[in-house]
Amino acid sequence: MKSNTVEIQYSIFPDSSELLEEERLLLEKAQEASFSAYAPYSKFRVGAAVLLQSGEVVLGNNQENAAYPEGLCAERVALFSAMAQYPQGKIKALAVYGNPTDYPLNQYVTPCGACRQVLMECEQRSGNNIRVLCGGTAGEIFAVDSAKHLLPFGFNMDLTKESI
Ligand code: THU
Repeated sequence: MKSNTVEIQYSIFPDSSELLEEERLLLEKAQEASFSAYAPYSKFRVGAAVLLQSGEVVLGNNQENAAYPEGLCAERVALFSAMAQYPQGKIKALAVYGNPTDYPLNQYVTPCGACRQVLMECEQRSGNNIRVLCGGTAGEIFAVDSAKHLLPFGFNMDLTKESI
């Protein structure tokens, strides 16, 4: 038997003033995108903004449906849209912004498990680490330098590759 420990690394910023200019602007785009979310059921609007190495920014927001499971998170809307429009594109960063309509948020919003799995494959496709910035109306920002810090042991079709 072998026991191991996985370490993940993340940063917390009290607000966006300490972020790089590029990151601050990306989070602002995610906030803008949150206003057009379609979230009549949860009232939990989320915006996402994907920054490609080329400088292009692709936006997404959560899209809900009366048949609840058919909706999609902001992150996957943005990531799939980016890869659909720029199949050879390399994603540099993803910003997420939580903006509920009816109640206050006391923390930043981090991607759900399914979005982390998609993000990890986008990172592999891109061939570079993806910086992930998570914020919301609470103000505080959570950041990681790579999707790997969000999903140790994520599923990988290529079992020759390490999953952490
Ligand atoms: N949601 C996102 O869009 N991203 C997240 O990171 C967390 C959750 C959406 C899904 C659903 O429309 C609503 O927020 C409530 O879960």
